[in-house]
Amino acid sequence: MKITKSLFVKSIANPKNLIKDHFSQIAFVGRSNVGKSSLINMLVNNGKLARTSNTPGRTRLVNYFLINDSFYFVDLPGYGFAKASKAMAESWQGLLEPYILQNDMLKCVCVLLDSRHDATEQDKQMISFLVYYNIPFIIIATKCDKFSKAALRPALNKLANSIGVGIGNIYATSSSKKTGKEEVLNRLEQFINE
Ligand code: GTP
Ligand code: MG
Repeated sequence: MKITKSLFVKSIANPKNLIKDHFSQIAFVGRSNVGKSSLINMLVNNGKLARTSNTPGRTRLVNYFLINDSFYFVDLPGYGFAKASKAMAESWQGLLEPYILQNDMLKCVCVLLDSRHDATEQDKQMISFLVYYNIPFIIIATKCDKFSKAALRPALNKLANSIGVGIGNIYATSSSKKTGKEEVLNRLEQFINE
C-alpha cells in the first residue's frame, strides 16, 4: 500500500465525539513515549502530521488522520505516564476503552512496544484486553535503530518472550531510519480490505 495523502481531521477529548462514519480505522496504542506519533508520521511520509515530543504524555486526545481519502489512522493517548495525575489517567481510560469497544469500523489495533524493554504490565493488560474482546491487533517493536544488526534479533526475541509470542509475530520498525514501513503497511492494507 502506498500512502499518497494524509490529513489531520480532528482531536477529541470526549467519547461522545468519537468519529462514526463509514471509513475503516487503524489505531495505534502503547506506552507514552513509545513512538506512536513518530510511527504514524513515518508510515505516511510526513514528519509533521502527528505531533511528537520528548515529553511523555504528548498525545492526550484521540487524534484522527484521514489517509488516502479512504481510512483513518488514529493516534491514541499513551498509557503508563508516570507523572500523570490519577484524574488524567482515568480520563485516558475513559477515552481509550470506548474508542476500542464502541467502534464497528476499527479494523486493527497496532500495539507498540519499545524494542529495548520487556513489555510492561500495562502493555500486557492492553494485549489481554484486545484478546478478550476479540479485537484484531498486531505487535510493532519501535526504536529498532537503537540496536546493531547483530543485537536486534536477540532483543526482539526477548521482547516476544515477554508477551509469550514468537519473534515472527512482531514487526520491527524504526521511525528515524524508516525501517519496517512496507511490512506494516502491507499488513494493515489486508485488515482494511477484510
Ligand atoms: P505520547 O504521545 O506521549 O504517548 O508519545 P508517543 O508514543 O507518540 O511518542 P513520540 O512519537 O512522540 O516519540 C517519543 C520520543 O521517541 C521522541 O523523542 C521521538 O523522537 C523518539 N522516537 C520515536 N520513534 C523513534 C525511533 O524509531 N527511533 C528513535 N531513535 N527514536 C524514536
Ligand atoms: Mg504521541
